[in-house]
Amino acid sequence: MILDIINKKANNYELTKEELETIFLGYLKGEVKDYQMSAFLMAIKINDMSDSEIFALTDIFIKSGDILDLSYIKGPKVDKHSTGGVGDKTTLIVAPLVASCNIPVIKMSGRGLGYTGGTIDKLEAIPGFKVSLTEDEIKKQAEDIGLVIISQTKDLAPLDKKIYALRDVSGTTDSIPLIASSIMSKKIAGGADKIVIDIKVGKGALIKNEEAAKRLSSLVIKIGSYYQKEVRTIISNMDRPLGNNIGNLLEVIEAIDILDNKKKGNLYDLSIEIASKMLSMAKNIQEEEARKEIITNLNNKKGLEKFFEFVKYQHGNLENVEVKAKVYNIKANKDGILKDIDALNIAKLSLNLGAGRKTKDDKIDYNAGIVIKKNIGEEIKKGDILASLYTNVDSINFNIERIFEIS
Ligand code: URA
Repeated sequence: MILDIINKKANNYELTKEELETIFLGYLKGEVKDYQMSAFLMAIKINDMSDSEIFALTDIFIKSGDILDLSYIKGPKVDKHSTGGVGDKTTLIVAPLVASCNIPVIKMSGRGLGYTGGTIDKLEAIPGFKVSLTEDEIKKQAEDIGLVIISQTKDLAPLDKKIYALRDVSGTTDSIPLIASSIMSKKIAGGADKIVIDIKVGKGALIKNEEAAKRLSSLVIKIGSYYQKEVRTIISNMDRPLGNNIGNLLEVIEAIDILDNKKKGNLYDLSIEIASKMLSMAKNIQEEEARKEIITNLNNKKGLEKFFEFVKYQHGNLENVEVKAKVYNIKANKDGILKDIDALNIAKLSLNLGAGRKTKDDKIDYNAGIVIKKNIGEEIKKGDILASLYTNVDSINFNIERIFEIS
């Protein structure tokens, strides 16, 4: 029976919801083996899925676990998701900005694995910060300050979690229908009804080309409307890192700088865009009007105040925070113009400095990371500091030419 379903997909026939349930729920129960599911996922990657198969799969993922009830929040529940990037700390900026405009944000976030970071790791870099709260605590915090960010509970779309781990080791992470149902099942199970999805495309992203990004965009919007959820998407570039800091505590520091209106650039622009879309949906106003409100609350520091209030409420202590690591500077080996900074290679370096996990049980060094000191287009002199590396490991290997293109 399982073999028939695998062969049907491998031969490019459309599967029924019952067939999808048989194989996916069988996998959740342990009756379908990893090697069978790997073959099946590869057949999906090669032959794609129809819209009705994608809706069915999303439904199976959602119903595999709990569905969060956020009905105690009056009005629409807004959320955001990123397909994963290098230096992407937008949640830390966007969530307080939106909440500062009186729209509650109750958000579940994940940890990082491999080259991509996770919001929860960044928050845990703040001494004392608590990422697990009880339902009563979440509700009280939502009512008191309108902003809660917690780690994803294990009961939210558990089938997606199990499938994602297998996709990671079976060459199927980049399948667009699998990404679409994975993201949307978690957002819907998380109680959101207005969702912004930031689709990263480029060298440092899961999705390498614009065409695949557009397909994903149209799919998540379709899945959203199937569930009566409003979804808006942004396709953003990930050839280069977002902002200047990569690494958990360093990223928190950069997020504060943006909220403190001390910094502009690609991180600022993307954060404003995501926050404006969220606010526009939540208040049912034009994006341009929402953008003005978001920028006002950035300029008058209401977003920053909300961030500090939220960190304090979740027991974080930002007083006297310092990055505890040895610092090494990468210096330019020639004169020229800085043409490119490779997001993927910088992420690999950051991982080797201790800032990320190579396997899911690895421990993170919250202090490790990279601060990029030069911007694309800047004139560089031999000996200029291109980046500072923060690490507690003894030996670092990297190839400067693979990260910084100077010509
Ligand atoms: N993010 C997810 O949650 N799932 C995917 O499959 C890819 C990115």
